[in-house]
Amino acid sequence: MKNICNFESQMPLSNDQEIPCATQRYDLTPDTMLINQAHYESEVRSYPRRFPIAIKTTRGVIIEDTKGQIYVDCLAGVASLPLGYNHPEINQVIISQLNQGIPYQSLDLTTPVKDHFIKTLMNFLPKTFAKNAHVQFCGPSGSDAVEAAIKLAKMVTKRNTMISFHGAYHGMTNGALALTGKLSPKNRRTSLMSDVHFFPFPYSLRCPFGLGGIQGIKQSIRYIESVLENDESGMTKPAAIIVEPVQGEGGVLSAPNIWLQALRRIATKYEILLIFDEIQCGIGRTGDNFAFTASGVEPDILLLAKAVGGGMPMSVIIYNKSIDCWLSGEHAGTFRGNQLAMASGAKTLEIIERDNLTKNAQQRGEQLRRLLSEIAQKHPCIAEVRGRGLMCAIEIVKENEFNPLGHPVSDTQRTLQIQRLALERGLIIEISGRQGAVLRFLPPLIISETQINFVAKIVEYALENTSVSQ
Ligand SMILES: Cc1ncc(COP(=O)(O)O)c(C=O)c1O
Repeated sequence: MKNICNFESQMPLSNDQEIPCATQRYDLTPDTMLINQAHYESEVRSYPRRFPIAIKTTRGVIIEDTKGQIYVDCLAGVASLPLGYNHPEINQVIISQLNQGIPYQSLDLTTPVKDHFIKTLMNFLPKTFAKNAHVQFCGPSGSDAVEAAIKLAKMVTKRNTMISFHGAYHGMTNGALALTGKLSPKNRRTSLMSDVHFFPFPYSLRCPFGLGGIQGIKQSIRYIESVLENDESGMTKPAAIIVEPVQGEGGVLSAPNIWLQALRRIATKYEILLIFDEIQCGIGRTGDNFAFTASGVEPDILLLAKAVGGGMPMSVIIYNKSIDCWLSGEHAGTFRGNQLAMASGAKTLEIIERDNLTKNAQQRGEQLRRLLSEIAQKHPCIAEVRGRGLMCAIEIVKENEFNPLGHPVSDTQRTLQIQRLALERGLIIEISGRQGAVLRFLPPLIISETQINFVAKIVEYALENTSVSQ
């Protein structure tokens, strides 16, 4: 190593100390760990309440807990593990990077790893979108990417209002939560970001216009446009429309292509920025590199996190250079330079392309939806089987019971029972959506045909062994 400041005599350039190779041994008494968790950790913990397990080891799609039970994990860090756990090539790239002395993190300074990640990401994006794109590294959470996008949109347009959608999930920080539809994390908050207006997201089963299908989609667009045209609507002209091309936490709802196309048309016509939040649905999950590509339209700002770091924390936003009006440091953050995430992220993108994992996501997703549809024939409590690629869901309702709007009544309790029984039989599935009555499946993109058969079998078993709640 050459010291460019000519301070060789004063600066120790090598570390001759022997570094002991330590292997940490943990106390693996399962019950103690869970008791300790409940004792020490905040009441805010969430997943441990539905999945009271302590993870011992993981590999691919499989988790083994400290009691020796094996699970097929269809949650996969909420879509943050596209290649599953401990993929040998990801492990290897991280180990070799550490051995080369590349830093763990580098603020926003560049490194060969970062340079390689940026090029790989640009190659993974649609060419037309990547052509004039700038990428901005944010703090490691998806929420920080959302905050950056809000600031950027407001700066570019010099406006304050934002449009979001019913069922949207954009994160837990102030602005991101303000844009989120789910009320439970908002109910006790005050002073969230102001000037957010929510519009209906296409959802045939629970169409707010009472129409569903293509008519519901058309009405939703007409409604947005009519509000934008109305000088008595109460909504000042928005800076941006933010939308998930497939809503995840909202209950796995895919935005129809024609709806996204209409949003693009409206955004362009009214000079509003269009933000696609692909933090959950991007990076191969829907059977395409990105969920929006099937629509043929592109966002002004694209948000990525979760899978983009290949299981390590990283988030980025990507937009056309022409709207890059930031001043240096206007959106900063210490951990914008996670080199391990850049190495695992780049390797993950390469493996998704090399192993054609988008095709696997498509095929395994179709297989799962076909099997779930067969099960739904025998279990009318499944009101709908839906999804795209490996973002799948079933919605659980009380048979022949309808609310005053004519929508099927959700069976929240039964959904919880199904989730619990599935866990007991070795399947991890998450709950989301309206009234917490949507069971969703987000396995790693590497899941096999046999594992999907197992998933469907367990769901069927759980349905057979639960009944409608009172
Ligand atoms: C679509 C979407 N946007 C944003 C976020 C927030 O990301 P994070 O939890 O990393 O802050 C999530 C998290 O689930 C998400 O699904």
